[in-house]
Amino acid sequence: MKIGIAADHGGYELKVALRDFLVGQGHQIQDFGAYELNSKDDYPDFVIPLAEAVAKGDVERGIAVCGSGVGASVAANKVAGVRAALINDHFSAHQGVEDDDLNILCLGGRVTGPMAAQELVGSFLNARFTGEERHNRRLAKVKKLEQR
Ligand code: RB5
Repeated sequence: MKIGIAADHGGYELKVALRDFLVGQGHQIQDFGAYELNSKDDYPDFVIPLAEAVAKGDVERGIAVCGSGVGASVAANKVAGVRAALINDHFSAHQGVEDDDLNILCLGGRVTGPMAAQELVGSFLNARFTGEERHNRRLAKVKKLEQR
């Protein structure tokens, strides 16, 4: 799968670990930065380009990491076509895709350890949207907001 990944300084270390993990799994990774640890950088500078790439279909899924994962999810969800969520548990990692067509997984680099993050990312990437009528109906109501 072609996966985009982005992080600020709060998520930098986890992003590097996840990038190596995903490359090892055979995925194609597009890294939107940060490319070095800079404690003064700002998560929107990396997360928004990632979110735009997901919305355009340049990458299939995204992973955005900041310190808590909160800022990353707030920023990513401002881009039309993006469905991002901060994920801390295995159930939500796959159910978010199956029911809500989640396309960006957000993680907190200061909250979630690298092994747990690998498990969450694996669940997210292996899950597929079911396309069931009730889920499409709900998503259509959300998408309407993007057309206002
Ligand atoms: C940066 O210090 C921190 O605020 C950021 O990484 C993130 O946690 C915001 O939600």
